[in-house]
Amino acid sequence: MKTLVFATNNKHKLEEVQALIGDGFQLKTLEEIGCFDDIPETGATFEANASQKSRYIYERFQLDCFSDDSGLEVDALSGEPGVYSARYSGSRDSDENLQLVLDKMAGKTDRKARFRCVISLILNGEEQFFEGSVEGSITEVRAGAAGFGYDPIFIPEGHAITFAEMAAEEKNAISHRGRAVAKLVAFLQEQQ
Ligand code: IMP
Repeated sequence: MKTLVFATNNKHKLEEVQALIGDGFQLKTLEEIGCFDDIPETGATFEANASQKSRYIYERFQLDCFSDDSGLEVDALSGEPGVYSARYSGSRDSDENLQLVLDKMAGKTDRKARFRCVISLILNGEEQFFEGSVEGSITEVRAGAAGFGYDPIFIPEGHAITFAEMAAEEKNAISHRGRAVAKLVAFLQEQQ
């Protein structure tokens, strides 16, 4: 079985991806490889940030690894919050970040938005990218309590409820992250 580092400390994300990847690869978190650094994420794009994280691990530990970066892009806000999704209001409080989007969107009729996720994988020293996105729109008011981040204000295209009103499996089946991970898993299965 091959070991693959997932550059995250989020156990929930790790278990989810491990279940999808199957037995061919054993995933390890940053903690499990003894990496407690605050890995820089200073890129201007999701690609750059994902790449920065996986290269950081590869250069220091020489281990096969992957990392993800994701966020919300709102058309009427010129693609914001984008790479600043986690700290748009200046704080990491997702309620404040979400409220700032709602405030900036007040009175706007074009409410189109999308979530994007980019995964950077470094396997045998070669980097590959996998991307997933989900189109949708920003609500006028928040709805739902499930999920995290901007889920209460995002309605995916073809649906009438927000991500925060969906069951986890329903969201994962159509989400940006679910789609990017599916591409990663398909690629890894071809390598076995
Ligand atoms: P990260 O890529 O896990 O660091 O996520 C960046 C930020 O984007 C998060 O802190 C959230 O604010 C936002 N975000 C990413 N994915 C989602 C999602 O599935 N739902 C809601 N917000 C998300």
